[in-house]
Amino acid sequence: MTPNPLRHLAIIMDGNGRWAEERGLRRTKGHEAGVETVRRVTEYCAEDPEIETLTLYAFSTENWKRPKMEVDYLMHLLEKYVRLERERYMSRGIRFEVIGDLSPFSSRLRETLEETREATRHNRALTQILALNYGARDEIVRSVRRLLAAGEEPSEASISRHLDTPYADVDLLIRTGGEERLSNFLLWQLSYTELFFSESYWPDFSVDELRRIIEKFQSRRRKFGGI
Ligand code: FPP
Repeated sequence: MTPNPLRHLAIIMDGNGRWAEERGLRRTKGHEAGVETVRRVTEYCAEDPEIETLTLYAFSTENWKRPKMEVDYLMHLLEKYVRLERERYMSRGIRFEVIGDLSPFSSRLRETLEETREATRHNRALTQILALNYGARDEIVRSVRRLLAAGEEPSEASISRHLDTPYADVDLLIRTGGEERLSNFLLWQLSYTELFFSESYWPDFSVDELRRIIEKFQSRRRKFGGI
C-alpha cells in the first residue's frame, strides 16, 4: 500500500492547564512547558521532508474567557517565543505565519508577529502557522465578506481562496489532552482530514508519540468520499 502523503499537519495543543494542576503548579507553568513541546514538534516537522505545513492552535476566539492573568501570561509567552525563536527559524529554514483576527492584540505583539513573518518569509523547510484569536466560523465569515467585497460569487473555490489559510487542506489533525472535539478549529480545511486523539497532555506529548501517530496515519485508507 502506498503511504498517505503528509503535507499538512495540524495540532490542537490541549492539556497544559491540567498538566500543571496535577503537579500542584500554576496553570501558567503548563503553558511554559507547552512551549518546549512546540519547539520539539516544530523541529521534527522541519526535518521531515514530506511535511510542508504545521498549523498549531495557540489561542482561540474563546480563550479570552479565561482569567485576565492567564490571558496576559499567554500573550507575554507568545511575544517572547516568537521574538526569541527567530534565530532558530532562520537556522532551521522555518517560515513563520499566523492566522486569525489579530486586531485585538497589542501593537507590540502584532509588530513582533509581523517582523518574524517578514524575516522568515523565504524559508522553505517548513511553514509553521500559529492560529491566534482564531475561530473557524469567524474565518469562513471573513472569507465570504472578502469575496463579496471583491465582487465574486460564493463557491467552494472562492471561499477557499479568501480564507486566512491559502494552504493545502489538512491531512492529519492531532488533538492532545484526552478531549475528542474540534473546538472551532479549521472546520473548512478539515473536511477530509484523518483525526487522531492523544491522551497525553501537550507538555508530555513526545516526538516518539508523533512518529507513532504518523505511522498509523500512513496505514489508514483515505477515500475522500470515494470507495
Ligand atoms: C490548551 O491547554 C492550550 C492553550 C489554550 C494554549 C496553547 C499554548 C501553548 C502551547 C503555549 C504557548 C504557545 C506558543 C506557540 C508560544 P489548556 O490550558 O486548555 O489545558 P487544560 O485543558 O488542561 O486546561
